[in-house]
Order: sequence, then structure tokens, then C-alpha cells
Amino acid sequence: MEIIKIRGKKTLSGTIEIGGAKNSAVSLVPAAVLSDKTIIHNVPEISDIEALRDILKYLGVKIVKRGSSYSLDATNLENKPITLEQSKKLRASYYFMGAFLGKFKHAEMYFPGGCSIGQRPIDLHLSGFEKLGATITIDYDNRYIIDAKELKGAEINLRFASVGATVNLLLAAVYAKGTTTITNAAREPEVGNVIDFLNSMGAKITGKDTSTLVIEGVKELKGGEASVIPDRIEAGTYVIAGVINGHNLKVQNVIPKHITALTNVLKKMGANIEVHEDYILVNKTTKLKAVNIKTAPYPGFPTDLQQPITSLLTQAEGTSVVTETIYENRFQNVPYLVQMGADIIIKDNKIIINGPTKLKGSTVITTDLRAGAALIIAALAAEGETSIKEIKYVLRGYENIINKLKNVGGKISLEDV
Ligand code: EPZ
Repeated sequence: MEIIKIRGKKTLSGTIEIGGAKNSAVSLVPAAVLSDKTIIHNVPEISDIEALRDILKYLGVKIVKRGSSYSLDATNLENKPITLEQSKKLRASYYFMGAFLGKFKHAEMYFPGGCSIGQRPIDLHLSGFEKLGATITIDYDNRYIIDAKELKGAEINLRFASVGATVNLLLAAVYAKGTTTITNAAREPEVGNVIDFLNSMGAKITGKDTSTLVIEGVKELKGGEASVIPDRIEAGTYVIAGVINGHNLKVQNVIPKHITALTNVLKKMGANIEVHEDYILVNKTTKLKAVNIKTAPYPGFPTDLQQPITSLLTQAEGTSVVTETIYENRFQNVPYLVQMGADIIIKDNKIIINGPTKLKGSTVITTDLRAGAALIIAALAAEGETSIKEIKYVLRGYENIINKLKNVGGKISLEDV
């Protein structure tokens, strides 16, 4: 079994290059099947992408990878069901629902996988597909069969600004007859990345970065090119690590406006960070002030940074309250932080953190992707050595994390035990 070993309190100095955003790349790759030949640049090397590559090959899509650029040819795409095993590999497998419904008016797959941070239903996706004219059958083993004689433009209001539902409905609506309007759409930058990609194929989508998207259905999509935007969550994770141990740590390839929610909180805490045009310079800050944080859809504080910043808040002076409003089970990192010496109480959808506390190295277990990031940050702050098990979750979303930290002085290694 592979584990990550980290010796804490080592200075992190130098440059960390941020890669393409996982949550963009995992929607751009399935979206490519709506066209014929497309190119996607800056695709991160993470296991979620590997899983999607395997699904595309199974569907008859030709893939040529040059560095981080993928040339995809879906000319001979086969309308085959996505298998149970493929569906379960990641949450983003569900984008094949929208893409196949849009392209073939038929999609067949199982309930998606993804981190166990809540129930994560897909009712908003399915009710949106029905509004476009689809009928959905769910058979005995939770297999979804989605069919439509015709897809017609519709008015769709999302009860919650769901990222996945917004993207999936875009994929289903691009070929629909007439105009589709999605209100209360998610405004995450990753949604904008997909909109640009679809429009480069010839789709007609307006309202990018707003909560009202209008899609004029088209008859054909051809070609298309996209570049995956920098991963704002990966960037935020390393900036937080820099506040703990950084010495002029440069987090490079950042779009600052994508993480103002984080940088505003860090400034409120008194963190020593400098925001530049496409990088953030961060230095270890010992006197940190406690703050209260509430997660929210973009541009609010991102739920994906709630667990990483919790590790930093254990080092802040005073009591911080973190309220998680998006997922009902996103505090699984907390027991391990407490095991390392943190003072945290879970109360409904809030955690109350008293700091600063001295963290001691320990053996901990990753339960989900961002919990893993939180444990790595805690290990960097801890006295002594920490062993982190179940690291497969971390490798889903953090490209080359061991080397990125090692290259700036982190005492971190991957060991087979
Ligand atoms: C995307 O998940 C991201 N994943 C998540 O990142 C991210 O946390 C989330 O958006 C919110 O920003 C990918 O893009 C692959 P949602 P998604 O639909 O689309 C409820 C990470 O760590 N909901 O916005 O699944 C749902 O239960 C991952 O990188 C419904 O009730 O998120 C949840 O409580 C974790 N019905 C909330 O909305 C639906 O039909 C957020 O879900 C859909 C969602």
C-alpha cells in the first residue's frame, strides 16, 4: 500500500506551478464528444483524467496526447452505455449523460462516483433533461436510461446553483431546437471554461459568468479548442501551505480574481501574502487571527477549500467558526486533526476551532480528496513525522503533489508499505 510521509516544519521556498483545473478538465473532456475533432490544452495529469481517457477510448474516440495537450477525434463515436465500473470511477462521469442526450438523444449509465462528502443527488440534472423533452427510466440496479424523440429549448430554473447540473444541461441543450434559458446557473469559472469550449465548436451560448445562461440550439458542432484554466483550488491549497511554512513561496499560474474569496480571508487573518498578476507570493505568518468562514457557491468561499483552510485555522489565535453550506458530510478530516492535537468541535454544519494548538505528527487516513489536502497541510505544520494512508483520493485531484512540494523544500515522500 502506498502512503505519503511528511516531516513537518520544513520551509517551503521557490516556485510551485499550478496545473489545469480538475473541475474544468473533467467537464471539457466529455464535452468534446459533442463535436468531431477538438483540442484541449493544459490538461492535468490526474487519475480522474485517466479514468475519462479510458471511457473515451471505449467509446471509439481517438486521443493523441502531446504534453498536456489532447487532440480528440470523436468522428466515430459509438453510442454505447457507460458501464457501472466506468460510472463509479468519478463524479464527472455524469457529463456523458448530457453529452450523449445532446448528441444521440439517448444516454445510458449508472449513478456517478465521486468523494463521499454527502448524498450528492442528481435530481437537478434529471429534471432539467426532462424539461428539454427527455424521459428517464431508472432500472433495478440504478441504471439511468435517458431518451428523447426531440430536444426542445426550455426555461430551466435551478433550485441550487449546481455546477454539475449547469454544465450537464449546457451539454444537453446545445443541439436542442430553439432557445434554452438556465436561471440560477452556477457561476464557477470552470463553467465559463466549458462555455468557451462549446462556443468554439459553434455553439451559441451567452451569459458566461452570470447566473442566467441562454443557449440557442444549433444543428452542427465542428472542431473546437480549449485551454483548461488554472486550478484555483490547487492554487489555494498551496497558498495556505505557504502561510504555514513559506519563505517567498511563489504560487505561479494563478488567476487572482478566481480566488479572491480565499485571499480576502487570508488577509483578514493577517497572512503575509502578495497578490500579483498571475502569481501569489506567500510567507510564513506566525501571528494569525481567527476568522469565521461560510462556504457558498462562486464567488463565495469555495467549499473545496473549507477543509484545507481548517488546518490553517488550528494555528490562528482565537476561535474560528467554519460553516459548510454545500455538503452535509465534509468534516471527515476533523477527527484526524484532533488526533494530531487540534482543538475542534463539530456542531451540525459548523466546526468550532480554538487555536493556536501545537500539532504533532501521527498516522492519519484520507477519506476524500480535500480532506487529504487538509491532512497534508496539517502534516506540514506538525512537529515530527506524519504518515497519510489512502492517498488515492489525493492523487485524483492534485497533479504531481509530492514533487511539487519536494521541489520547494518539503520533506515529503511516497512509500510502499
Ligand atoms: C462540483 O461538484 C465539483 N466537482 C465539486 O468539487 C465542488 O465541490 C462542487 O461542484 C461545488 O463547487 C466537479 O466539478 C467534478 P454541485 P458537483 O452539483 O457538480 C447538491 C472537489 O473536491 N445537488 O454544485 O457535484 C449536492 O448534493 C469536488 O473537487 C443536488 O441536490 O456539485 C451538493 O450538496 C468535490 N442535486 C450541492 O448541490 C443535484 O442535482 C453541490 O453540488 C446536484 C447537486
